[in-house]
Amino acid sequence: MKDQIAQIQKQALQEIEKVEDQKELAEIKVKYTGKKGELTKALRGMGELKPEERPAIGKLVNELRDKLEEEFAKKEKELQEKELQKRLETENIDVTEPSKKTTLGSIHPITQTIKEVEEIFLGMGYQIADGPEVEKTFYNFDQLNAPEDHPSRDIQDTFYITDEIILRSQTSPVQARVMETQKPPIKIICPGTVYRSDTIDATHSPVFHQVEGLVIDKNIAMTDLKGTLEMFAKKCLGENTKIRFRPHHFPFTEPSAEADVSCFVCGGKGCKVCKGEGWIELLGCGMVHPNVLRNCGIDPKQYSGFAFGFGVERIAMAKFGIEDMRLLFENDIRFLKQF
Ligand code: DAH
Repeated sequence: MKDQIAQIQKQALQEIEKVEDQKELAEIKVKYTGKKGELTKALRGMGELKPEERPAIGKLVNELRDKLEEEFAKKEKELQEKELQKRLETENIDVTEPSKKTTLGSIHPITQTIKEVEEIFLGMGYQIADGPEVEKTFYNFDQLNAPEDHPSRDIQDTFYITDEIILRSQTSPVQARVMETQKPPIKIICPGTVYRSDTIDATHSPVFHQVEGLVIDKNIAMTDLKGTLEMFAKKCLGENTKIRFRPHHFPFTEPSAEADVSCFVCGGKGCKVCKGEGWIELLGCGMVHPNVLRNCGIDPKQYSGFAFGFGVERIAMAKFGIEDMRLLFENDIRFLKQF
């Protein structure tokens, strides 16, 4: 019996020694120490021994089991290390190899323009306000003093969702929302997307962008408006830019004006960009109508203010020399890559 155990040991150790991978090792484990393995068989054979011989043989078998288990663990660790080593060798990274080319996007000219406008007004102490694009007619028209029969309320101009809900046709409703919730002094700009049922052509799009401005405080005068817009025009379009006001009408301002800037291409002499005029129409503006202040809970006897609104596309087209507005919305990468 002792010889048999010694034989098992010798054979098992030889086999463990030769093992190449973990699967083989698992098979050998079953063969020797498994339920039906060699060691179990040897223990069963003890029935044929004399009772006084049994403890010594039992002890030998158990010692061999411990030894083999130790060997299996050792081998297993060895194989794991070998496999890791192999993986490290085959998966090595060549740090000198050039990397895959990634294509970096660019910021859309509209977004660039909005960011630049924001920077200029933030520098003048303004805050940036936001409002919904799906808006109530109440804020888009009523609060802004637009009469029931104002042409901009027509379905040919404005996209209606229901009788009382529209896609905002201007950023001006944000003025009303801010005035309702904040106490003066107020100094905000609101950039955003607006919608009008216009037919697409080189200078019109049913979706476009505006920036609204609003200042409300004590003793705000038209001169503050003009000075502010002059400062903005110089920073945005160049130090030599001049500004002029023409009388106009908006329901939410009184007096109202349209502001033109001197042509930043020809400097005012007249060219293709300004159509020979020397001036380019830039924005609408005026002193906030007392009705609007009252509608929004601000006392027009204590406070006054100015407001303005302009189209971002017009400024972006002027700054980047883009002649057709459609290019800004077609998302052709060949076009966008240039900015
Ligand atoms: N909301 C006007 C438009 O879309 C632009 C405008 C004009 C805004 C005068 C103003 C303003 O705040 O005072 O044509």
